[in-house]
Amino acid sequence: MQYGYFDDEHREYVITNPKTPVKWINYVGTLAFGGIVDHTGGALICKEDPALNRITKYISQLPSSEFKGETLYLRFKQGEGYKVFSPYFVPTLDRYDLYECHVGLGYTRIVSEFYGIRTEATIFVPSGGSREIRDIRITNVSDQPLEIDAIPVVEYTHFDALKQFTNADWVPQTVQSKAYHDENGLLILTQCAFMHKDTRINTFTSNHPVSSFESDRRWFLGDNEYGTWANPLSLQQEKLGDYEAQRGDNIAALLHRLGVIRPGQTTRLITQLGQDESVEKALPVINRYRDPEQVDRAFDELAAFWDAYLSNMQVETPDANTNSLLNIHNPRQCYITLNWSRYLSLYQLGFGARGIGFRDSSQDVTGVLVGAPEDGKELIHKLLQAQKRDGSAMHQFNPLTMVANEGDSREIEGAPRYYSDDHLWIVLAVTAYLKETGDFAFLDEVLPYYEKDREEHPFESGTVLDHLRRAIEFTWNDVGAHGLPLLGFADWNDTVNLRKGAESLFTANLFGKALLEMIELARHLGDEESVARYSDYYETMKRRVNEQAWDGEWYVRYFDADGSPVGSHTNTAGQIYANGQSWPVISGFASPERAKAALEAVYRRLNTRNGIKLSAPGYNGFDPTKGGITTYPPGAKENGGIFLHTNPWVIIAETTVGNGDRAFEYYSQINPVAKNDKIDEFECEPYVYPQNILGDEHPQFGLARNSWLTGTASWAYQAATQYILGVKTTYEGLQINPCIPRQWDGFKVTREFRGAVYQVVVRNPDHVCKGVKSVKVDGKEVAGNVVPVFEDGKTHRVEVIIGEDIQGC
Ligand code: GLC
Repeated sequence: MQYGYFDDEHREYVITNPKTPVKWINYVGTLAFGGIVDHTGGALICKEDPALNRITKYISQLPSSEFKGETLYLRFKQGEGYKVFSPYFVPTLDRYDLYECHVGLGYTRIVSEFYGIRTEATIFVPSGGSREIRDIRITNVSDQPLEIDAIPVVEYTHFDALKQFTNADWVPQTVQSKAYHDENGLLILTQCAFMHKDTRINTFTSNHPVSSFESDRRWFLGDNEYGTWANPLSLQQEKLGDYEAQRGDNIAALLHRLGVIRPGQTTRLITQLGQDESVEKALPVINRYRDPEQVDRAFDELAAFWDAYLSNMQVETPDANTNSLLNIHNPRQCYITLNWSRYLSLYQLGFGARGIGFRDSSQDVTGVLVGAPEDGKELIHKLLQAQKRDGSAMHQFNPLTMVANEGDSREIEGAPRYYSDDHLWIVLAVTAYLKETGDFAFLDEVLPYYEKDREEHPFESGTVLDHLRRAIEFTWNDVGAHGLPLLGFADWNDTVNLRKGAESLFTANLFGKALLEMIELARHLGDEESVARYSDYYETMKRRVNEQAWDGEWYVRYFDADGSPVGSHTNTAGQIYANGQSWPVISGFASPERAKAALEAVYRRLNTRNGIKLSAPGYNGFDPTKGGITTYPPGAKENGGIFLHTNPWVIIAETTVGNGDRAFEYYSQINPVAKNDKIDEFECEPYVYPQNILGDEHPQFGLARNSWLTGTASWAYQAATQYILGVKTTYEGLQINPCIPRQWDGFKVTREFRGAVYQVVVRNPDHVCKGVKSVKVDGKEVAGNVVPVFEDGKTHRVEVIIGEDIQGC
């Protein structure tokens, strides 16, 4: 069974069967204004924050057939009443003659044919804009004239998204709608919560005269809501009630009488949903997008944005699925995660205080640096302001208020109130940003630490470099009985919550990697004192890890508060953890022998055809001394599931030991593009990585969930581009150090870097995995494998030959 196909030429995935196993979504706009659009036209839209300023009501737990947030009805006369249907399939579920949902870059286009009416609705938010546009072209493809009415509908939520569900009196008492007839004879239907009547008005309008409207769900559905979204009774009447709701469940339904459409004729209806301070302030922009030419221009600008973003790195490898993923879908997903962190998706519902995750977003930054370094920098700015004076970080913050909190650690009394890894990720983000851009002035920018006095003034500020140094010092000083970093509430694995005093090998290794970055930076800045200090920290931590955490065949993952190991062959469940093995290689702590042994153990104990499991065997029952991991059955999520984020780390580790064949095997087995052929097992969108896939201890092995918002996006992109293809930024230039499957003859990469274009052609005549033999730049042989920074706006040809497998793979 397939539900659609990849159309790489148009950079779309085209869904051809609307009954996908779960909703498949796309993102429009950004966190500034935007949200998700599902493949049947439902939409969850918010402005600046899904928790505190949500616009449409989208309840993802409702069955797929249900109305969610937005839809469009069309109708024509039939007998005494009307034939009413939705060209988006949901919620009327009529039989269609054609259904296609084109999932594009920043837009979704639904093309359908029902009853001789073809509809093409393109849904998008203009770049940098704050309007959700639906550009709807309705064509009569029958052989008779048809008189058609179009009724687009929005269902609003209270702006405080959670209150909508926790208070069924206050919410309906406070919301209201009003109709404005503007000077062009067009209607703007507004909605707001009473307390925001002078500050935040939602507007729904179109480019066609509206003959009547409805703003109360009860009157729209009819019969005290015993009318349904599948068959709204008011649509059997010639006119809607023109009711301006003073309370209740607010909607906006605009009835457009499009008149007679002749065979072959097309009418274009453009709707827009926005939020502004007032109707008056909204008018200029409303008028702009009533003009079809302006809408075309906005759509072209959106396409230009994505062109520019993607063109900074394009690849040509012997594997078509890899090309599709690296040229389109993976970088797109990186941009989406940068915008939304783990805040708003079909699965991460954007309620409450989750906001922007410090750890998650720091990792997301690294995924967009090739195409959007400025966006990365902007996010780093925000993240650093959630770092505390002691160098540790708040776990998450609200993007609108910048109020931060300590995440789930707040839920368990007496638990440490910090995560031992959070603050270290920012070191990786900042140094990657510097290598990409050369913007060293950034290190001197002064930014406040999180803590504030009663007037909300920060107690202390420091340069960006100072922030990084404090992050390092925090971990250096926060160690337990083995001299290893204390776990805090958790490390990267949120769900292993051991007793106070437990130590984390993950954090020890992340600390090692952060130290390598700090040493490299200090060396580049000529700061020998810091080089010496951080090298000393590095060697000390390396020794502690190797003296205490080697379990015979692999590294243990934690020491519990009583000193007992977790992730050891002596445990009954959770004997081996993938991160426990990949990270000592990434940190450089593992000797070559141990690196190979640890990675072999991963292959033997954790690899499956659907990806590498996070750990094995699964814990089989709730155990409060282990924490959240034991709330899942074996094989699900962090408890022995294929938690995809960790797979690229193993891939990176395999390239470090020179095993290009295995690295690519791991890469390919999780390539979502390839899942298109086993979609009934996988179920989620094949154009993005999901966060998790059920592992082989679970009866539904292979089933994916929590698509889109996952650190897998950033790390899989890094693993493929920087470690398999081996095109990596350094302070000195662009390093080329591929580690590919030996059967490849070579590959090509076009990479924009510091104001020049590098056209890299790699050849592999000896069929090895790794080992650069020669590098020619613009026809001239150069020493080493780092191509210099040119900053000359020109294109440079880089020819690389790999051979003589020096790493012995
Ligand atoms: C989720 C969290 C992330 C964490 C991971 C593993 O994806 O957003 O921060 O690292 O789970 O527990």
